[in-house]
Amino acid sequence: MQAHHLPQVLAVERAANAHPWSEANLRDSLQAGYPGWVLIDGERIIGYAILMIAVGEAQVLNIVVSPERRREGLGRVLMECMIEAAKTAQCELMLLEVRRSNAAAIALYRAYGFAQIGLRRHYYRSDDGVGEDAFVLTLPLAQPG
Ligand SMILES: CC(C)(COP(=O)(O)OP(=O)(O)OC[C@H]1O[C@@H](n2cnc3c(N)ncnc32)[C@H](O)[C@@H]1OP(=O)(O)O)[C@@H](O)C(=O)NCCC(=O)NCCS
Repeated sequence: MQAHHLPQVLAVERAANAHPWSEANLRDSLQAGYPGWVLIDGERIIGYAILMIAVGEAQVLNIVVSPERRREGLGRVLMECMIEAAKTAQCELMLLEVRRSNAAAIALYRAYGFAQIGLRRHYYRSDDGVGEDAFVLTLPLAQPG
């Protein structure tokens, strides 16, 4: 993902999330050097993902597929880009937070072996103002040798 992709990435983000990231959030992630990927069909961006790689750990910051292009395996493509990058960076662990109600994303993560290690109460913004819980999931990455 590069800066010139941001207007389309923002459109995908807004179509997918009731509480979307702002353009500034996305721009800050790129400026911080976090790796990002876009899926492009013709000239149109139909999905994106952003990963934060810190010392030994890779945190999935976001993964989104356009609503009309779901269940085609595109989420898997993005997951595999991130897992590969985390392994290349010799991370021992991947982690992420996901809304408790987000069954599709939880199913995707579980398919890759992510398991729940924690719960953050009222972590996400929600329409009722109370805040929705986040599950914290991790995936240990095997290191060669
Ligand atoms: C989560 C998301 C990225 C999945 O993208 P996708 O392209 O539809 O996923 P895939 O087609 O690659 O699905 C891979 C696997 O994930 C699981 N899965 C995906 N969507 C699912 C759903 N709605 N219900 C149940 N399982 C689902 C299945 O195991 C699926 O494999 P299968 O199709 O062979 O059964 C997509 O639903 C999305 O963009 N959601 C909104 C944004 C979001 O919530 N992101 C997560 C932030 S933490």
